[in-house]
Amino acid sequence: MNKQEVIICHDLEENLVGAIGKCPHDKLFILLDEHTRDYCWPVVQKFDVLKEAELICIGPEDVHKNLETLAFVWKELGDRGATRHSLMINLGGGMVTDLGGFAASTFKRGIKYINIPTTLLAMVDASVGGKTGINFNGLKNEIGVFSPAQSVLIDSEFLKTLDAHNLFSGYAEMLKHGLISTCEHWAELLNFDLNKVDYKALQALVAKSVQIKEDIVEQDPFEKGIRKALNLGHTVGHAFESFALESKRPVLHGYAVAWGIVCELYFSHLKTGFPKDKLRQTLQFIKEHYGVLSFDCKQYDRLYEFMKHDKKNTAGVINFTLLSEVGEIHINQSATKEEIFDMLDFYRESMGC
Ligand code: GLY
Repeated sequence: MNKQEVIICHDLEENLVGAIGKCPHDKLFILLDEHTRDYCWPVVQKFDVLKEAELICIGPEDVHKNLETLAFVWKELGDRGATRHSLMINLGGGMVTDLGGFAASTFKRGIKYINIPTTLLAMVDASVGGKTGINFNGLKNEIGVFSPAQSVLIDSEFLKTLDAHNLFSGYAEMLKHGLISTCEHWAELLNFDLNKVDYKALQALVAKSVQIKEDIVEQDPFEKGIRKALNLGHTVGHAFESFALESKRPVLHGYAVAWGIVCELYFSHLKTGFPKDKLRQTLQFIKEHYGVLSFDCKQYDRLYEFMKHDKKNTAGVINFTLLSEVGEIHINQSATKEEIFDMLDFYRESMGC
């Protein structure tokens, strides 16, 4: 897989001119959704380099990350004369960068694309690392390809208009990056004041977070080994996310991941000796900032079913990434049904639900 260029922007226009200059093209398209059309397009609209660009606008949020929207984007590209030498810029959160990346990578067997992520989650996770795709048949990210953007331009200015829930959601992925990297980075993330954001300090943390992801993706772009470190918190997190959706009280991805981290650090403590004090400190931070998803023991079987259908499993064995210390990663760990139920007991007792 080609290595993508990830730029932490100090001057978005200058960086965009540079990125577009590296991709000779006949036509330029910008994919955005109704939210980024209203809040983010005005920021870049005045850039000279975009004056010929054609906009393709799709519906916002995960509900539109589907085959119908994908077909709409392909059709718009085709009807408006896109060729194999056209270039697409995805301006938006993870939904836009995932779907847009997939649309670009499959249109006429693939055209080049650039990501400009506008949410924290997309900056530190979705837009970096080449995973693209859509939801299908009730399953998240079921259809997609590994296909990196030519460039990812990260401008933390966009975070100033992001609501608190989406900020916290992205921060959960940063916390995950802290846990799989160094004690120092993990501690600075726990000490950051998320209720009174210092955007300059946040930009520095975002840069570190992106670097952690890039380093891992570079070693293992197709998730055969160490890239599974990025799944910490996600086996249980995805089950919580699907369960919450099914129970008609949907939650943002990062919230489910934060609660999943609590569960998987508990397993890490039991199975690979992750220190209890670090489990407690992380749990306390998550409880304070993310609250709790409540459920009772009658719903354990349903949560277990969701974990069994996770696409990271092999031969029906539920796959976890665990830690023995901050930065000490153990991939391909498993657990029995009884252990999983015990973990859910721990979650409910310690989170107070
Ligand atoms: N979101 C995890 C990964 O990119 O591998």
